[in-house]
Amino acid sequence: MGSIVLFGPPGAGKGTQAQRIMEHTGLPQVSTGDMLRAAVKAGTAVGLEAKSYMDRGALVPDDVILALIRDRIKEADASNGVMFDGFPRTIPQAEALSELTEITHVLAIEVPDERIVERICGRSTCGHCGAVYHDTFNPVPSEGCSCGHYQEKRRADDNESTVLSRLSAYHEQTAPLANWYESRDLFYRVNGDRGIDEITQDLLAVLN
Ligand code: AP5
Repeated sequence: MGSIVLFGPPGAGKGTQAQRIMEHTGLPQVSTGDMLRAAVKAGTAVGLEAKSYMDRGALVPDDVILALIRDRIKEADASNGVMFDGFPRTIPQAEALSELTEITHVLAIEVPDERIVERICGRSTCGHCGAVYHDTFNPVPSEGCSCGHYQEKRRADDNESTVLSRLSAYHEQTAPLANWYESRDLFYRVNGDRGIDEITQDLLAVLN
């Protein structure tokens, strides 16, 4: 099996769906956003460089991202492919990726711009297991996270002004990738403006 790309604007539900699809495909989730946040937290050189871009909602330079990806896909769990979440985000990233691994599907989760701010500004994650929640649309169960150790985390870049910058970066630099992948017959669109379960069903139907 090759690798899958989950594609879409900030807050489309890439991380939410990646966790669900992972259970069905066994492919590990590779989120460049999560890798960058880990680097920022660890205070590495990559983290120090990335932080200034992330804080203002701009894309981190391609060479930084590609170095992370080249290292990650050498790991043993990536030998049968991975599920990329939030990568690639530019045409140079997609070109480089095509030299590194075979991509079988690019799954685009389409959500209108007007939904994005409310989705992002209501997000929390469990710091223990990484489960993604939303204050209104997917609240933490009253008995707590299914991992039993809920620790609420909110992202520094989940505020309205940074989200709007992330959305502009998406339209200017990432959305053009749709044509790039469409011309290679790898691009599948799914309506992401619906309930989480319905979207998962459609994504799995494409993969099956
Ligand atoms: P990254 O961490 O990748 O953030 P993003 O793309 O902005 O995506 P998000 O993680 O915010 O959203 P998501 O689509 O995963 O949605 P989620 O499932 O959480 O990137 C952060 C930064 O890192 C970038 O700004 C950039 O600086 C840098 N970076 C990362 N990768 C890079 C790259 N390749 N190149 C350059 N720079 C890079 O859902 C959002 C919320 O909505 C949740 O609360 C969820 O519960 C809720 N929700 C999900 N689905 C639904 C639904 N169907 N209905 C209602 N609510 C829903």
